[in-house]
Amino acid sequence: MSSTAISTIAFPSSIRAQKTHLSSTAAVVMAADKLRAQGVNVIDLGVGEPDFPTPEHIKNAARQALDENFTKYTASSGIMPLRKAICDYTNSNFGSDYAPEQCCVTVGGKQGIFAAVMALINPGDEVLLENPCWVSYPEIVNFAEGKNVLIDTEATDFHLTADLVKAAITPKSKLIIINSPSNPTGRVVDPAEYKKIVGICVERGLWVISDECYLQFVYPPFQVNSAAMLPPELRSRVMICGSLSKTYAMTGWRVGFALGPKDWVTEVLKIQSQSATMAASIAQKAALAALTGSQEPVQEMLAEYRRRAEWFIPALNEIPGVECGQPEGAFYAFPNLKGLMRNCGFATSKELADELLHKYGVVGTDGAAFGAEGYLRLSYANSMEALRESVIRIGQMVADASARRRPAI
Ligand SMILES: Cc1ncc(COP(=O)(O)O)c(C=O)c1O
Repeated sequence: MSSTAISTIAFPSSIRAQKTHLSSTAAVVMAADKLRAQGVNVIDLGVGEPDFPTPEHIKNAARQALDENFTKYTASSGIMPLRKAICDYTNSNFGSDYAPEQCCVTVGGKQGIFAAVMALINPGDEVLLENPCWVSYPEIVNFAEGKNVLIDTEATDFHLTADLVKAAITPKSKLIIINSPSNPTGRVVDPAEYKKIVGICVERGLWVISDECYLQFVYPPFQVNSAAMLPPELRSRVMICGSLSKTYAMTGWRVGFALGPKDWVTEVLKIQSQSATMAASIAQKAALAALTGSQEPVQEMLAEYRRRAEWFIPALNEIPGVECGQPEGAFYAFPNLKGLMRNCGFATSKELADELLHKYGVVGTDGAAFGAEGYLRLSYANSMEALRESVIRIGQMVADASARRRPAI
């Protein structure tokens, strides 16, 4: 058979695969890589990961694991010392009483969320999501054949409120996913409001996933708020999906956890054991060192993100047509660019993001990918130098577009 014949065979993708899309944040990473390979000086504010290296004591624990040949399968739920450390960390910080059988170490936070949704959702079950939200939630819900019910938060400046949640609940509602601090908006749910939201959900028989991926990155006066702080009667229907990826600059290590009601965790474990098996043994040892070692690097990263945000957001707001609120947590600016789009003649935020990438070498993720047309997500987990240069380039794009639109004399 000739190679042409081989390439014409259409792959019979399953309906499930056809309905799944490549993560738009992953697509942006690939587009940036392609430009870099062509020699373009790319400023990457698209990728949502710390620009800091993994702290040395964590890397040392991994080196030691290798030297000790800790390179084989572990229990699918993760090694016991790590499960204990996750419980201890959570209980001592937030006054809860989780036990290791309520904890499954997962392959990053994403795998935990995926398995927790798969373990609960049947076809047609409604899942409440704030809109905008992280790109993977609706895709994961689709995968489980659930129905996404989007709660629009633009009118409340992207704050999720108990009233909004209450209005979205129907007899088919089964789950809500709450993400505070939020990717992409940087909003933090106030602890009292958080309790009210979960209270309403529990009263109406819903289950809750609390995605705490950015837990420690909160800028005072806003407060770190974990579902672990809730009273036991509310916590009994909440799965905390945690991650070491952002907190310890460990995105490539792929360690997260699901911490919650024992029966739900047991189902998560079954799903993980038949798919990823477990988080990598070496990464688990590194995660143990991260949770039990010095937390100083986390505070240093937080202080640095704060310093950057304090420069970056006002600088963005200086650009005509840009309105950007100050982030309360995480490390994303989420500017409203509707004015700029009008001024510069962009019909969609995707069009704007493409122009910014291909002509000016600045990578951002268009808001529509998160459900918010007219916005752009810019990660400031990048050097001040890169942030300064990005503002210059965005300003240049605006100036060029205005010049194009000025009638010739
Ligand atoms: C809101 C949110 N949740 C979960 C994750 C998953 O993180 P990981 O799988 O790297 O732990 C991310 C990563 O970007 C995220 O932004």
